[in-house]
Amino acid sequence: MSSQEIAKTGSQQGPSVANGAGEWLQCISCTSAYSVEMVRYHCDCGSLLTVARRQPWHERLTPEILLARQISSDPLDQSGVWSFREAIVSLPRQSIVTHPEGRTRLYSRSSLSAYAGVERLAFKHEGENPTGSFKDRGMTVAVSQAKHLGLKAVACASTGNTSASLAAYAAHAGMRAVVFLPAGKISTSKLAQALGYGAICLAVEGDFDAAMTLVQESADKLGLYLVNSLNPMRLEGQKTIIFELLMQRGFTVPDWIVVPAGNLGNTSAFGKALLEAHAAGWINRLPRLASIQASGANPFYLSYVDAFQSAHIVKAHTVATAIQIGAPVNYSKAKAVITATNGIVAQVSDAEIMRAKAAIDQSGIGCEPASAATLAGVQQLRQQGVIRPSDDVVCVLTGNMLKDPEAVLAAANNKVRPIAASLAAVEAALKS
Ligand code: F0G
Repeated sequence: MSSQEIAKTGSQQGPSVANGAGEWLQCISCTSAYSVEMVRYHCDCGSLLTVARRQPWHERLTPEILLARQISSDPLDQSGVWSFREAIVSLPRQSIVTHPEGRTRLYSRSSLSAYAGVERLAFKHEGENPTGSFKDRGMTVAVSQAKHLGLKAVACASTGNTSASLAAYAAHAGMRAVVFLPAGKISTSKLAQALGYGAICLAVEGDFDAAMTLVQESADKLGLYLVNSLNPMRLEGQKTIIFELLMQRGFTVPDWIVVPAGNLGNTSAFGKALLEAHAAGWINRLPRLASIQASGANPFYLSYVDAFQSAHIVKAHTVATAIQIGAPVNYSKAKAVITATNGIVAQVSDAEIMRAKAAIDQSGIGCEPASAATLAGVQQLRQQGVIRPSDDVVCVLTGNMLKDPEAVLAAANNKVRPIAASLAAVEAALKS
């Protein structure tokens, strides 16, 4: 590796490998720096990489500029990701592959406030993204970077949503998409999306963690660009969930932000976004982050109760297949985030998840099971006295209801009632 590609940071100016916009990839452990033009997901020391920048972005991204972009017809301004472009990564306009994405809504429902025992409770619905999950926010950045680097094939391992998103963005960019799926363990609708958008779908024997290991090996050996959340570009895009949320709230800080936790990409991205927003002066304090795991897929929770002495690995099994992950790749970033935000990690049972999902569905909002872990988590933390009734809480719903129709149809209260084609039969059905 040449000295152009790797350098130690340390000076105020940043390393020599920084691009024209003053950005580089930095190791989260030893601070070695690499060019953002490199295809690389780990430091030589084995740790994760993150996007660092010489100049903080806030001077170029004021609330006034953001406001003006809300009514602009520029395609980049129409994206809830690229409207924050100074805080993401600098790419030439012609490389940007955008649907557009983001600009998702915030919902409140009195029934859900009552369910959780928290009056000020809102839900940011990332299921409103083009492919129905938050993944589009990271994928637009990762696929744009692939285009910028002239790459022709992109790959991921996935519990479903990443594969659907990758397939859509690769189709948009005219790239080959290869997705590694744990055989028989993802919902039909997510698989249908990946197939429909034209990805090569590989059903890997074993679980998500096996698929994740295989895709990393394949990316290295077969020249596929890896766009799992190991890729720091993904997390830059996912930061915009927080930026947009803060904007929607007029930059008032909630007490809690609650997120479902699987591979820990969102937990990591949310923490980075909050620290950057704080450094930029957008917010004057940090909210606490609550990462919620399914109790059958709880390695991060086990580390948390262990005071983060070690990374745990479990054999994952949960009804919330999106977060059925036993060896999260972003563990070290997420651990730092929980510490920095005085955050908390909780676990909820499958029964708690499905009860919360029914409440969200029946409020008219709807979400997939993994997303409902947030409401279940708020209810539990409220009952434990960790969250107070007066706290201001925002849950991030990560995927929409149609992402997992099997979960809806399996719920006991959603039985279809067969009837004869007669008015009498309708009357009888309505009475029973
Ligand atoms: N919610 C949904 C709906 C997801 O699809 C995922 C992750 C998560 C939450 C967890 O987010 O990994 O950032 O902690 N899905 C990935 C996938 C793993 O392949 O679609 P995380």
